[in-house]
Formats: sequence, C-alpha cells, structure tokens
Amino acid sequence: PASTHVDDHDRITVAGVALADIADQYGTPSYVLDELDLRHRCRTYREVFPEAEIAYAGKALLTRAVATWVTEEGLSLDVCSAGELAIALSAGVNPRRIIMHGNAKTPAELSAARDAGVGRIVIDSHAEITLLAATLTRRQNVLVRVTPGIDAHTHRAVATGVTDQKFGFPLEHGQADEAVRRVLGQPRLNLIGLHCHLGSQITEVEHFRTAVDRMIAQMAQIRIDHGTILTELNLGGGHGISYVCGDPQLDLSSLAATLDDALDDACARHRFPRPRITLEPGRAVAGRAGVTVYRVVSVKHVTGGRTFVCVDGGMSDNPRVALYGAHYSVALANRHSIAAPAVVTVAGRHCEAGDELAVDVQLPSDLHPGDVLAVPGTGAYHHSLASTYNAVGRPPIVAVRDGRSRELIRRETVEDLLRREVSG
Ligand code: LLP
Repeated sequence: PASTHVDDHDRITVAGVALADIADQYGTPSYVLDELDLRHRCRTYREVFPEAEIAYAGKALLTRAVATWVTEEGLSLDVCSAGELAIALSAGVNPRRIIMHGNAKTPAELSAARDAGVGRIVIDSHAEITLLAATLTRRQNVLVRVTPGIDAHTHRAVATGVTDQKFGFPLEHGQADEAVRRVLGQPRLNLIGLHCHLGSQITEVEHFRTAVDRMIAQMAQIRIDHGTILTELNLGGGHGISYVCGDPQLDLSSLAATLDDALDDACARHRFPRPRITLEPGRAVAGRAGVTVYRVVSVKHVTGGRTFVCVDGGMSDNPRVALYGAHYSVALANRHSIAAPAVVTVAGRHCEAGDELAVDVQLPSDLHPGDVLAVPGTGAYHHSLASTYNAVGRPPIVAVRDGRSRELIRRETVEDLLRREVSG
C-alpha cells in the first residue's frame, strides 16, 4: 500500500503499524489490509469515472467491513453467490445496489436474490431465463451477459471475453440475440442493459474500446429488432494492477478517455443514446491494499540447487502462483540487514514441490527462522481463494488504519476444522 514505510527500528510499517507487531499479535501467516488505501482506490474510481456506476466485485475480497467501506465510498456491489450476497446483506448493504452474477446460479440462489430484492440480476444462460421466469413474483431488472469475442491477452484461466468459454451468450451466430428475444418475452423480466466481462488482469485499454463498439452495435440492433432502448452497459472489471516492480498496469485515466471516446463514436455511428456505464473492478480496488506476513521456518541450501526459504503459509493462502504463474515480491519486514543479497526461492509449507510463493527473488543472505517476510499485492483473490489444504486453517484478515490494527476475520483454527466432522 501507499502507506508503507520503514520505522526507526528498520521494520516495515503499513498505515503506521509494524508488520512484525502484527506477526507477534495475530500470528502468521496473516493478511493485512490497509483500510484507507482501499477506500482511496474507491474514491479514485469515482473521480476518474464521475458518470459511471462503480460496482466493487466482491469475489476479490468480501467481508462485512469491506462491504461497508466500499458502499460508504459510493460504490455498488457485485456478488456472485448466495454466500457473497449474505455477507453483503449482513453488512447492511442496500439490496438495490447489489448486482447478482453467476453462470450457474442455483434455484436457491435466485430465490435468495429475489427475496433480498437485489437491484439487478445478470442473466447467463437459457436455463436461468426459464428458472427466473418461474421464480419471480414481481418485475425484476435484469441484464444479459454477452461474450463479445475479445481476447484480452490475459491468462487462459481468467480470459472470459472469448467466445468459447462458459460465460454468457456469444454475439456470434445470433446467440445473444436469441437470449435477448427470450428475456423480452418474459413479462417479469425487465431487460435494462447488457453486460460483458473481458477477463481479469487486463493491462491494455484498447480491448475496452472494442468491447464498447461491439456492445453498442448490439444494443442498436436490439432497438431495431424489438424497439427496446437499453439504457445500461456494464463493461465488467478486469483492470490490471502491478504485482512486482516494473509490471504494466491498466491506467484508469486512459481507460476513462478511451471509454468516453469509444462511446461518443459508437453512439454517433448508430444514433444510439449514450447508456449509463457500470464498471466492476475487484482487483484494482483491493489488490494493492493487502500484504501477507509470514514467518520464516527454515532456510535450506540445496547443494547444486537453490536456496529455499520456507515460510509458515503458502498455496493455501496464495494459490495464485500455482494457478496462474503469478509473480510476487518479498521483503524482510522485521529488521534491517546489511547482509549481501542472495537469490532464493520462498517456498510454502504444503506438501507439493510447486508450493512456491516467489522464485529467484533477492533477499538478505542472513535470513533465519523467526524472520518476518511481507508479500505485497495480496488484497484481492487471496483470502477469497484460500483453502484449508493440509488442514491448515485460513489466516486472519487484520485491518490497519492510523497506527492501529483490528481483526476483521479471525484465524481458522483446528477446532473449526474438526467441528465439520460428523462422525468419528
Ligand atoms: N465482473 C465479473 C463478472 C467478473 O467475473 C469479475 C472477475 C470481475 C467483475 C472482477 O474482475 P477484476 O476487476 O477483479 O479483475 N482468481 C483470479 C481472478 C478471477 C476473476 C474472475 N472474475 C485471479 O486471482 O487472478
């Protein structure tokens, strides 16, 4: 986070709190979350896109506190399961400001969304149209999710704009047309717009221009075919951030300029009224606000091989390295070291050779058990992707602000895990 400093004892602090103190007080590994950093990024979105609706994508990181912060900052909330919906509602989020997503929403989830009175449901399949029509008791605002056929050059696992994947209805072969026709035929479904999400960790703005072009063309065609003017265009999230120094990131100001330009252009070309834009950033709001702290457990020099610095967390709190080949930086957080830097692999504690947090990073050569390491950029898709692999409980989330810390989520204990056992 921007509030990262080094104190008089050469310890790394975030929002005025030494990470080493967090390690002592809450144990390790722990996710540390800088509240003001996250709030500031929400504010930046509001400033850079004053006319757009910004819906925070809760899948990146959702706790009651986070739901409260983002909505206090004027954002709406995108949820994609009954669980995320329940967290949002228990935080007191106004249901009208909730957007419900999901490619396989179950009947129970659609009923929960209906009962909560969520503002919008994004329709993702024909089965959902049928199910919603049967479930709803009053008119519900909906969007149809389409896949605009854009390859945003991101990791295959998170490339959702391309046609051959499970989300939404492809524009090709009239598949989106058919979905729109069916939705418009359902009196309880009030179609107000279209949605697309190109993928995650996108760093080039031009993909969003293409998306606007194709989506406005589709909206104009819907007006021609059905006489319906859709007023909302949800362009999803996917705004890339940098994880390690020198990584490219998506520039929000140039995204704003590009969207503006693309909308002017496409709307003029089709003589279509400019729709209200919704953006759904998750990573770009929460990612840089988080740091994970670990404790070194052992340092192993393999003769003829690498030096492994093994820590007390790993792929259970950060599966992104194994899943996406993600890169992270690592810093010594509890003391100053004048030792020469060494090239090491920071490895996790899990029973797989691939459980590595950072390969070939430079750290002081005098690292020893007990040292505290910090991995920045872990605010988004870390707690939310965490598992209990090897029956290791999930870490707590500790919020820091103005020199103070408080736990938002406590550590998952072995007792928590045992409590799920039904018979012995
Ligand atoms: N809207 C929709 C419909 C989405 O599916 C997603 C992310 C977002 C918004 C937010 O995308 P963001 O701005 O955070 O990129 N676990 C992966 C990322 C998966 C993203 C899934 N959908 C990772 O750790 O990189």
